[in-house]
Amino acid sequence: MAIASKKRGKFITLEGMDGAGKSTHIPTIIAALKARGIEVVSTREPGGTRLGEQLRALLLHDAMHAETETLLMFAARREHIETVITPALKRGAYVLSDRFTDATYAYQCGAKGVSASKIKQLEKWVQGKLQPDLTLLFDVPVEISMKRLITAREPDKFEREDAKFFEKLRSAYLTRAEENPTRFRVIDANQALDKVKVIVENIVSTI
Ligand code: TYD
Repeated sequence: MAIASKKRGKFITLEGMDGAGKSTHIPTIIAALKARGIEVVSTREPGGTRLGEQLRALLLHDAMHAETETLLMFAARREHIETVITPALKRGAYVLSDRFTDATYAYQCGAKGVSASKIKQLEKWVQGKLQPDLTLLFDVPVEISMKRLITAREPDKFEREDAKFFEKLRSAYLTRAEENPTRFRVIDANQALDKVKVIVENIVSTI
């Protein structure tokens, strides 16, 4: 007797500049999906695996060439896809990743100048056909995100960049959203937290 194959889960990613507030909404998304009886695997990039978390520590704190950074991001991503993302999607779970490849296009390409075609090659190699089903882009003006970053926490190397870097980042993210309108939802995150929460819940209820 043939065993009915389980329906593939959905892959949701969260993106935005540092300080846009995306991570704040992770518990809301998890709760909304769980309330529908969905298994949720919440993860992040760079990271998500033991090796990936070790690479994250290097990536966030050590100075390196922007292409080295790109290659390490994709090395961590390869492991993440292999050991976490694909198995979860196959068993029908939803995967919620705090950042994915759009961040490489925004940070390493848009803000640091790595060629988009090199990133595209790595994307194809590492991901094959895997793409997020839904990407929430938390968008705020640069002054707001920079203001939000002035916290007690010690900033990582990306958070120490200047306004010019952040402008390039924001525009690269918005361009990605324009180029991929079916999977992107751009959220105006420059409003009260409870308002953003409702918007997030509404979007997630559609997937
Ligand atoms: P972030 O997601 O902002 O975590 P936290 O809220 O703990 O600071 O930090 C990850 C950093 O890594 C962020 O500054 C963006 C950067 N990054 C890239 O530059 N390229 C990538 O491909 C990814 C996934 C992240």
